[in-house]
Amino acid sequence: MNNGLLRHNEAEIVQRVFGENFHIKLKYVDATKRFLTKLRRVTDPERKRKIIGVEFIRVFEDAIADLTHAKNSKLKTQNSKFRWLAQGTLYPDVIESVSISGNPAALIKSHHNVGGLPKRMKFKLLEPLRQLFKDEVREVGAQLGLPKEIVQRQPFPGPGLAVRILGAVTPERLRILRDADAIVVSEMKASDWYYRVWQSFAVLLPVRSVGVMGDERTYEDTIAVRIVESQDGMTADWVRLPYELLATISTRIINEVKGVNRVCYDISSKPPATIEWE
Ligand code: XMP
Repeated sequence: MNNGLLRHNEAEIVQRVFGENFHIKLKYVDATKRFLTKLRRVTDPERKRKIIGVEFIRVFEDAIADLTHAKNSKLKTQNSKFRWLAQGTLYPDVIESVSISGNPAALIKSHHNVGGLPKRMKFKLLEPLRQLFKDEVREVGAQLGLPKEIVQRQPFPGPGLAVRILGAVTPERLRILRDADAIVVSEMKASDWYYRVWQSFAVLLPVRSVGVMGDERTYEDTIAVRIVESQDGMTADWVRLPYELLATISTRIINEVKGVNRVCYDISSKPPATIEWE
């Protein structure tokens, strides 16, 4: 499912990887419009997460209705041959989505695949990795002989770029973030740092600032670069990347991404910050 919140070329890459490596019938659904409509003007991080979690399930239900040639999407699951939804939920997703000792204020964030799911669903969940940490999942993947591209892929949150755009999600802000993020990823890969860190990505801030381009004043957006190392995502530290690499990333983003005139490097660890900004 393309929720319109994926990274540069991601929908194409995932389809290719599945086509080349797994012998399954893949049905691709582009649900960009549905998600962006639901998210219009939404700025609260938890509301974004809940909206995405619910829509995620509804799109699956509709896709199944189509596949079963049902006239309406309200089809009861019992009559359908599609009864299961398999998810890659990990143990940290479960821990962070549940409030500590019943205190809702202690909930960190609703992971789309756990706390963000709707109460009523037409599926049963199948979550074989629910009790494992990421390093354990990677070990299982390696033993099963899955491609490195999949096993060593950096984590990407289900709510996607929506939780990396602070403030409202619009097609133009998605364009800015996607372009900046593609530069971070390509420079990390080119310098061989990509597989040495837990995650490396760009975040679009709701802050504009003054700059100068040639002899013109600019007033444009700010990108934060977040690069962390971690064992399990529960705690993390920012990576002491070589200055030269940071300089290349910053210069490229400012020169190549229309609408950005400032880049910051996030030097907060988790806790007290989290890895994603929302
Ligand atoms: P935080 O931001 O809580 O993230 O420090 C910890 C790890 O979890 C990922 N993450 C998610 N993964 N659904 C996911 O599948 C989500 O809703 C979600 N939120 C955060 C995050 O990228 C990091 O690796």
